[in-house]
Amino acid sequence: MSRTVTGIKPTGRPHLGNYLGMIRPALDLSRSGEMFCFIADYHALTVMQPAAELRRRVLDLAATLIALGLDAGQAVLYRQSDLPEVCELAWILGCVTAKGLLNRAHAYKAATAANAALGRDADEGVNAGLFSYPVLMAADILIHRAQGVPVGRDQRQHVEIARDLAESFNRVYGAVLVVPEPLVDQRVMTVPGIDGRKMSKSYGNEIGLSATPDEIRRRVSRIVTDSRPPAEPKEPDTILSLYRIVAADDDARDLERRYREGGVGYAGAKDLLTAAIERLLGPARQRHAELMADPAGLQEILARGAARARASAAPTLRAVREATGMGWG
Ligand code: ADP
Ligand code: TRP
Repeated sequence: MSRTVTGIKPTGRPHLGNYLGMIRPALDLSRSGEMFCFIADYHALTVMQPAAELRRRVLDLAATLIALGLDAGQAVLYRQSDLPEVCELAWILGCVTAKGLLNRAHAYKAATAANAALGRDADEGVNAGLFSYPVLMAADILIHRAQGVPVGRDQRQHVEIARDLAESFNRVYGAVLVVPEPLVDQRVMTVPGIDGRKMSKSYGNEIGLSATPDEIRRRVSRIVTDSRPPAEPKEPDTILSLYRIVAADDDARDLERRYREGGVGYAGAKDLLTAAIERLLGPARQRHAELMADPAGLQEILARGAARARASAAPTLRAVREATGMGWG
């Protein structure tokens, strides 16, 4: 896939699920082709937070991505709001979007379902930004004429909406936009959190990418187990599911066998899991701290990325304006 785009929201601190489900596959792709990677601060506004907090999180996320291996000289790393052209494209796309399509988008559906469960009005607390979230996301992707969008599984529907919108636009105005494909890493499906549900900041069950070795140990120790003694065979559980995802294949097979046959206690399995997570996250910790100590340097990297992103967006927007009758032809 030669040209890809992906975005990540600066809300909450990034966790292992974000890394394995989305960041790592995106970094792999960025080594072989042209990648646009941005920090989705406009999207973050659908959930309000103080301005200073938003700015800090944007820098923190940029530092995290670079510390984990993003090469900002090769990939284009930028802040979404430094490319305000996406808002213009989002408006235009909104005019070829069936409202019913957005009623079915999962973030909005989840919000209305939660309200219904509490006996409230379906739209209580739902802002129009959340409702039209998938349209802005489509603009993020389509503005670069990207062919592929690396995302975690739960974002696939949003990329499919971007495909629909590109097709609707092209049907009305001619073949201007590139129809993108979702790229979901099949090896890593959903990363479980310490309570066994999907790891998510909304559930508070995550292991943060900035966790210290001690924090990793404490989080892992909270995984609930039954009381089988070490010698007894065990059912696959959250410890094993997480270990399969973070450890080397041979090590994972070995632990699986010891679960099946008996011969490992839960405390021992948790030690193995803690060490495997530390091997994955440890190397980036120092680099992240160095980057955060130089905020001006990070801002400079983002500014360079923004200039490259705007250069990529300009011809698409020109073609869209032309096709829709804006400008004088
Ligand atoms: P959260 O659920 O913590 O709010 P986001 O919705 O911000 O996470 O997700 C950011 C990206 O990380 C998305 O592409 C999403 O699919 C991916 N992702 C998040 N949680 C997981 C998980 N537990 N397993 C795999 N991928 C995930
Ligand atoms: N909606 C994505 C998420 O919650 C973030 C995002 C915004 C995105 N725009 C995007 C992802 C464009 C891929 C492409 O994680």
